Amino acid sequence: MPAADHSPTGLRTHTCGDLRAEDAGQTVRLCGWVTGVRDHGGVLFTDLRDRYGKTQVVFRPEDADLFKEAGSLRGEDCIQIEGPVCERPGDQRNPERTTGDVEVEAASLTILSRSDDPPIDVIDDVEANDEARLRHRVLDLRRRPMIAGLEARSTLCGALRRTFGGLGFLEVETPILTRATPEGARDYLVPSRVHPGRVYALPQSPQVFKQLLMVGGVDRYMQFARCFRDEDLRADRQPEFTQLDLEMSFVDRDDVLATLESCFIESFGEVGLDVPGPWPRMTWDEAMDRCGSDKPDLRFGLEIQDVSEAAGESGSRIFDGAVESGGVVRAIRLPGGARSSRKQISAWEDDAKAAGAPGLAWSKVGDGGEWTGPLASHVSSEAQSNINGAAQAGPDDLLLFGAGELRVVRLALGAVRTALGSELDLAGEPHRALWVVDFPLFEEDGEGGWTSSHHPFTAPMNAGDLEGAPDHVASLAYDAVIDGVELGSGSIRIHRREVQERVFELLGLDAATVQDRFGHLLEAFRYGAPPHGGFALGIDRTVQVALGRDGIRDVIAFPKTTSASCPLTGAPAAPTPRQAEELGLTVAEPGEQG
Ligand code: AMO
Repeated sequence: MPAADHSPTGLRTHTCGDLRAEDAGQTVRLCGWVTGVRDHGGVLFTDLRDRYGKTQVVFRPEDADLFKEAGSLRGEDCIQIEGPVCERPGDQRNPERTTGDVEVEAASLTILSRSDDPPIDVIDDVEANDEARLRHRVLDLRRRPMIAGLEARSTLCGALRRTFGGLGFLEVETPILTRATPEGARDYLVPSRVHPGRVYALPQSPQVFKQLLMVGGVDRYMQFARCFRDEDLRADRQPEFTQLDLEMSFVDRDDVLATLESCFIESFGEVGLDVPGPWPRMTWDEAMDRCGSDKPDLRFGLEIQDVSEAAGESGSRIFDGAVESGGVVRAIRLPGGARSSRKQISAWEDDAKAAGAPGLAWSKVGDGGEWTGPLASHVSSEAQSNINGAAQAGPDDLLLFGAGELRVVRLALGAVRTALGSELDLAGEPHRALWVVDFPLFEEDGEGGWTSSHHPFTAPMNAGDLEGAPDHVASLAYDAVIDGVELGSGSIRIHRREVQERVFELLGLDAATVQDRFGHLLEAFRYGAPPHGGFALGIDRTVQVALGRDGIRDVIAFPKTTSASCPLTGAPAAPTPRQAEELGLTVAEPGEQG
């Protein structure tokens, strides 16, 4: 890390990352945390740590009082020392550290504040469990990887603000206490004291407000927007997270994608996420077909092959049945996979089942192309050879099959492909970015109705399609995907009232509900709404991908657990009796069902 450009304060002349050989001879004052004291033949050493690095400090026995006090130092005590910078003898230099050529001979020591025994170790390779790290976040944040996450986040946001700001995007704040905004999750609600029985909803996104801003003539909007979603949490989902929310007027899809792509490439580069353009575009259908995912990881192959034709009259009940009932047979060929153990294969089968498939059929391919495995005896040798041909399979390969309904087969093999990629460590450098475009406008809601694939404000590719079958309507929605992670989503919006009303109707919303929830948007559309479109980039996920982290928690200063609680503050907490009374709330005992 480069030495910080840092001006002195009353308490310190330099940071713990600043000093170099050329500073030898200067008297400096440093502040930081003690990382432990080592006694080397009657001389005490400590590494003094702050955000910028570590500097070795030496305490010699000649000054008995100082030496005694240094001996009392414990890990995480916060101290100030003053003394001359000395070059270390050649054999004692530490090339791994930017300050490794020097040490400071302490002439004075001030203990700024003592630390209790730290409940978690402040070391880069953390050993403490997640709960303990969140509970003791102040100590966890002192670790370099945590600081690196916050630094990258700050750098990224600065770069995005500059690049989009430079293109005239106006930074506008939208309300946090608002009405529900549909993004597919449950709302966090805030009861109103002044209006008993009424609630505000925290925004799942500023979607409607940014569209209102376009109708208001703002033309180009940006906001680092905190969003709140009560949904099942995973490694890449937090109940509150940050988007760079963007919207533009008088644009078509190509305009939006071109603007985003150039600003993203420039900004992401500042945090080492190099994704040169042009980013390829893949339709949603193609992504689902080739990779079984709407966020395909293009860093490795293992694409899904269609072997339906070759498998149709194979003699196997699974294959023939699938094709006869209008379904498909698809395969992933794992080169050299014939050496996989049953245990490995059965773990991949579990992945397929978790994605909704009844199972995962498989065969190993022998030297002459013949199959072995439970499926082999059910598939004619002619079909084996045809399927090998269709999947380009040869000796030593493993074929993993999905057979049945297209949607289920895609998702199941997609899950298997993702698992193979990570278990076999197939995804190497460089990063691979793409746009996934042409998402369907609607998807089935599992209860016989339709829900929006993106959100209800997304424009159909052709408004006329809204009169046909909902499952065939393509939309103007797009996602930015890097390395198999959806970093952001957006769309061209509906800007005509009658089209928006028709979409609400197809979503099964009655007129009264529409008026109550979205009347303000429809009303705005009465007054000359411009064509507009935009995007929201997940900041947490972008930093995660840039730094190659496993999840977003490490790039958020104070994140929540997977049960949406905060071990540090104890949130959520019961309201006080007075608060409950003022808000008209009846408070349940913890764990009591409403
Ligand atoms: P969407 O819901 O796809 O779109 O969200 C956009 C991006 O926000 C991030 N994201 C999250 N990050 C962390 N935790 C979460 N729980 C979470 N949920 C979403 C993701 C995602 O790609 N209003 C639309 C955008 C638009 O149409 O302009 C929206 O919010 O990186």
